[in-house]
Amino acid sequence: MHWRTGKEIRSLFIDFWISKGSKHCPSFSLIPNDPTLLFTIAGMVPFKPYYLGIEQPDFTRAVTSQKCVRTNDIENVGRTARHHTFFEMLGNFSWGDYFKREAITWAWEFLTDVIGLEPERLYATIYKDDEEAYSVWRNEVGLPNERIYRFDKDENFWFMGNVGPCGPCSEIIYDQGPDFSCGKPTCAVGCSCDRYLEIWNLVFTQFDLQEDGSLKPLPKKNIDTGMGLERLTSVVQRVRTDFETDLFKPLIDHACSMTGVTYGASRSDDLAVRVIADHVRSVAFMIADGILPSNEGRGYVLRRLIRRAARYGKLLGLDRPFLLDFLPDVLQLMADPYRELVDNRPMIEQIVAMEEKRFGKTLQQGTELIDQEISSLKGQRGHELSGAVAFELYDTYGFPLELTKEICAENDVDIDEKGFQEEMEKQRERARASSKQISSEMKGDVYSLIAADIGLTAFEGYTLSEQETEVQALIKDGQQIHTLSAGERGEVVLKATPFYAERGGQIGDQGFLIAPGMK
Ligand code: ALA
Repeated sequence: MHWRTGKEIRSLFIDFWISKGSKHCPSFSLIPNDPTLLFTIAGMVPFKPYYLGIEQPDFTRAVTSQKCVRTNDIENVGRTARHHTFFEMLGNFSWGDYFKREAITWAWEFLTDVIGLEPERLYATIYKDDEEAYSVWRNEVGLPNERIYRFDKDENFWFMGNVGPCGPCSEIIYDQGPDFSCGKPTCAVGCSCDRYLEIWNLVFTQFDLQEDGSLKPLPKKNIDTGMGLERLTSVVQRVRTDFETDLFKPLIDHACSMTGVTYGASRSDDLAVRVIADHVRSVAFMIADGILPSNEGRGYVLRRLIRRAARYGKLLGLDRPFLLDFLPDVLQLMADPYRELVDNRPMIEQIVAMEEKRFGKTLQQGTELIDQEISSLKGQRGHELSGAVAFELYDTYGFPLELTKEICAENDVDIDEKGFQEEMEKQRERARASSKQISSEMKGDVYSLIAADIGLTAFEGYTLSEQETEVQALIKDGQQIHTLSAGERGEVVLKATPFYAERGGQIGDQGFLIAPGMK
């Protein structure tokens, strides 16, 4: 097997499937056009209507390297060799066109002929009674019976979510060798350690999962496959973790040189640099696709990632905003093919700077508070961090609950989540009770805060009636926000303005704010 860069592997995959008659679609956005999902979690997500037969594409075979975000395991990211928040999924798709036979034999051809994986190290798993898949593996590929494993629904049936396209699947496993084994006598295909690595999932998408749990057959038989680019690259480059591939290494190296860490010397330092390397990629891609920090939904995930990375930076002694120092590396690694990173660079810089600065102000105090609480709890059996403290950390110091939980878990301390939720509810009550009063008081407040932060707007209306200027802040409902979308009302604070404000008995000026693509 040749050593190849991650970029080469991506191109080889795309070219291979083009040679099999597939249309290459550039990656779709991380924000799915699908209310059942927060993020694009797999290559098939943008094609869901084609699986369901609601829309007909003008092609029946496609290939993508799709940007994906998965958030179910954020706290594991950095602790294991292969958890990521952002990753690329290599996938080939067929709607009512080729099916199991081609999907399996071509996948085998790609891995063995194009990539050069050793056939004797490959295994397949199939859904327990999928005789058709078995027959292709056994008779067409020629895989010996003892290298084909049958598993139940938990392992070999892929669901997109609680509803939607799904089907039995067949996974291709690569044996990395005894060096990678957990060493347990039971270590075999199916073991969760790194020896028998699942590299490619081939889904035979034949059903639409209904809300009541029943499986409705789809109009056509389809194929959906997914292979993590980072994972395949780690196999090809023969490194122990995805973080050591050339897709991550420059970020890891930069984090090490910035903090003086020697990679591989300490578990906790390795964890911190991996978190930073993972999260800066996600953060850049999320903002480039239009996600902004907020207290709910996707924006909350983004906020969590920025704050989690900031905290790990602090653990490594970084007492200043540092995430943007990695942006040139991310661009160097990913701007080809992901042009949106370049196009949205100013946006990424602005949002990350603002969010990091905001959290930086309270991170130190919040850390002191939680350290104090934890040390007073340690040694006291059964004691947990109170909901009130968790809430204070959230509300006053901007610690997402999950971050507090993670810090507690690192110290073997539980947390009273119910108490936290109660405090949260109490606060909502208070807010509801005084919402009118708050909105007028907050208005006064938000202007002073902005003025203190960025200074006053220069009035140039005595000499100019139009000018170029910069948006300094946005306000909606008495709160400073990051974005105003078409159709929303809000207030815009400018660096300089030719508009006369309403005062001294004179009415204010009216006019337009014009920027590329908006008026
Ligand atoms: N959609 C399948 C997966 O994500 C290929 O594993």
